[in-house]
Amino acid sequence: MYDFKIAAADSATLYRDLASALEGLIAGEPDPIANMANAAALIGESLPDLNWAGFYRNVDSELVLGPFQGRPACIRINFGSGVCGTAAATLQPQRVEDVNAFPGHIACDAASASELVVPILVEGELVGVLDLDSPDRGRFDAEDQAGCERLMALLGPRLR
Ligand code: SME
Repeated sequence: MYDFKIAAADSATLYRDLASALEGLIAGEPDPIANMANAAALIGESLPDLNWAGFYRNVDSELVLGPFQGRPACIRINFGSGVCGTAAATLQPQRVEDVNAFPGHIACDAASASELVVPILVEGELVGVLDLDSPDRGRFDAEDQAGCERLMALLGPRLR
């Protein structure tokens, strides 16, 4: 049984604890789906004020839904569409304060108000994206982005 209780007072400690928990979960496990599933569960449980946390995978240059925590979501997203597709097309993280102000935002859950999408790159190739949604506007700050980028740098090599 894994029983992580991660509730740090500050972001730096939170993401450091999350990184070491994630390293423990994926150590020695080569299966990408299992690793994404545990990462989604860990992040979804540990980060406050999220309504969706999960992955879209790069399948032949289309984003296809992967393991996640939250409501059922759009299954396929073209590169360039919405927040996830923009992250995939540009290979740049997308931190969106207000999704309703983002041109082409794809509303999978009407409750989502802000979003953070981090591309997952392994040796320069896009493996997929991490997508976090929050019902709170402006939920994600630069520390969340940096923390999630670090988590995805750890996870990426275990996804292929
Ligand atoms: N809002 C995303 C779609 C995925 S869901 O939020 C889970 C987007 O615009 O790409």
